[in-house]
This record gives sequence, C-alpha cells and structure tokens, in this order.
Amino acid sequence: MFDTLTGSLFERITRLARARWGLSLTERKFSLVQNRLTSHLRKSGGTIEEWVQRIEKSPSESDMLLFFDILSTNVTSFFRDSTHFDFLERELWTPLARGQRTAAGRKIRFWSAACSTGAEPYSIAMQALELLPPEQRWDVKVIGSDLSSKALAAARAGVFPESQLAGLSPERRKRWLTPSPKSSEPEWSIRPEVRALVEFRQHNLMDPPHAIGGPFDCIMLRNCMIYFDRETREEVVHRMHSMLKPSAWLIVGSAETLSSLKVPFKTTAASIYTKE
Ligand SMILES: C[S@@+](CC[C@H](N)C(=O)[O-])C[C@H]1O[C@@H](n2cnc3c(N)ncnc32)[C@H](O)[C@@H]1O
Repeated sequence: MFDTLTGSLFERITRLARARWGLSLTERKFSLVQNRLTSHLRKSGGTIEEWVQRIEKSPSESDMLLFFDILSTNVTSFFRDSTHFDFLERELWTPLARGQRTAAGRKIRFWSAACSTGAEPYSIAMQALELLPPEQRWDVKVIGSDLSSKALAAARAGVFPESQLAGLSPERRKRWLTPSPKSSEPEWSIRPEVRALVEFRQHNLMDPPHAIGGPFDCIMLRNCMIYFDRETREEVVHRMHSMLKPSAWLIVGSAETLSSLKVPFKTTAASIYTKE
C-alpha cells in the first residue's frame, strides 16, 4: 500500500519533535521525514497515521528512541572544524604540558554533547594523548553523549569505515587506530588507550544534565543547535553553563553563534565562548 505523509501528519510530528527533543522541523524536512518513515514502515508494517497515533498516545521508550533515530541527522567527522582543535592545543594542552596552566587534582573534564558516532570525543582524547606528556599523569576524561541509540552504538563500538576517516592524517590513523580484522570492507578500530579516556552516555539535551557528571573544563556542543529554535537554544546553553567550571569554554559549531541569545558567556574566538 502506498502511504503518504500529509501536511497535518507532518504538523503533528513537528509538534512531538519540538516538545520531546527541541527539534525544529521546517517544511524543508518534509521529504526527509516522509522518506525515512516510509522506509521504516516498509520493514515494520503499519501506516504513518497509525505510527503517529501510537507515538502521540502511548509510546514506549523504545518507540520514542526509534522515532528520534528516524528524524535525527548524525553527520560528523574526526577533527571537524580544525580551528577548534588548534585553539585547544594553544590554550589548553600546551600550557598544561608546560606548567603554564594547572587544574585541580590534575583533572581535565570534557563533555562532547551531541557527539553522534563518536568522532568528536575520540578526537579530543587523541589530542590529549598527543600533547600531554604521560609522565605528568594528567587525569583526562571525555564524556560523549547523544540521544540517538544508533549513533551511540556506533560510537561505543569505535569501529569506523575508511570513508569516515577523512579528518585523520596518515600519522594519526597509524598511531590511534588498528585495521579491524572482522570486516570485509576496510574498517578501523579505535585503540584501547584512546577508548580508555572516553565514556558514552545516552542523554536528551532537553533533560536536566547533572547526571552527566562534571563540572567540565570544556563542552563541545557543535552542529546540533542548528536544529533548535531560539528559545530552545537559550535553554540548552543555560544548562551547559551550569555544567562548566568558572571561566570554562563552550564551543559551538562554526556555523552557530550565541550572539543573539541572552546567555552569560563572552566571546573568546569565533564559535568559542567563555563562561561568565
Ligand atoms: C550533526 S550531529 C553533530 C555531531 C558532532 N557534534 C559534530 O559536530 O560533528 C547532531 C547530533 O545532535 C544529536 N541531537 C539532536 N537533538 C538532540 C537532543 N535533543 N538530545 C541529544 N542529542 C541530540 C543528534 O542525534 C546528532 O547525533
């Protein structure tokens, strides 16, 4: 049976996505939602109308997570927006290694919020390992969180196809990954010393964040707020504020800005903000 997404069903989906996850689905997402839903229903059976009704009336947690997976976009890459990593090298890792900066208990805590399949937290961990001398015994931990079960499963597996390694230089590939033996197509597995620094959690950015841990020296919340409206962005940034150490950094995507929001951060560099 041919099933179409009507305007009114799309509106109901939009309302749900906004209320649960802060996602602001514009008309431009109509075909994407239609294609993803129909391809899901082809496998699971049922109509879009039935699916939306179930989600509205009595959704199970797994229905909701599946629905989020259908709607979410998980594009990411290693060392994405290299200026952010240049900033961290210059302002954090190198001063720590040279004794020009210190941290209580030698603890450095990162949160990669909305980390998708994990390239971002793994990149942070690689950089820490490259730039902090092991004999200095820094205690670095990177929390990677996302709501997408599919993305988190891939992040936890830590195995990436060749096509997703574009951001890694040949030196980094050799140093921090090993060819994965099981695969038929070339795949690479994150080495244990990098994995040891990273922990993944399932977290909805609309929920109170305190179970995540912290306080953090830096939160990366990149390329996620583009899906939120202004009000939601402001709420999320306030939550991030409560999770940062004094004067710590919030880094957003290079196409994102806090400039129109009423939030207690000052601009430090393009898309890099310091907690006030
Ligand atoms: C485009 S990816 C960005 C990945 C990474 N931060 C980067 O810049 O490469 C956006 C991610 O935001 C996540 N996301 C969107 N809304 C969310 C929410 N309400 N709670 C948690 N994660 C969310 C999606 O699942 C997706 O993995």
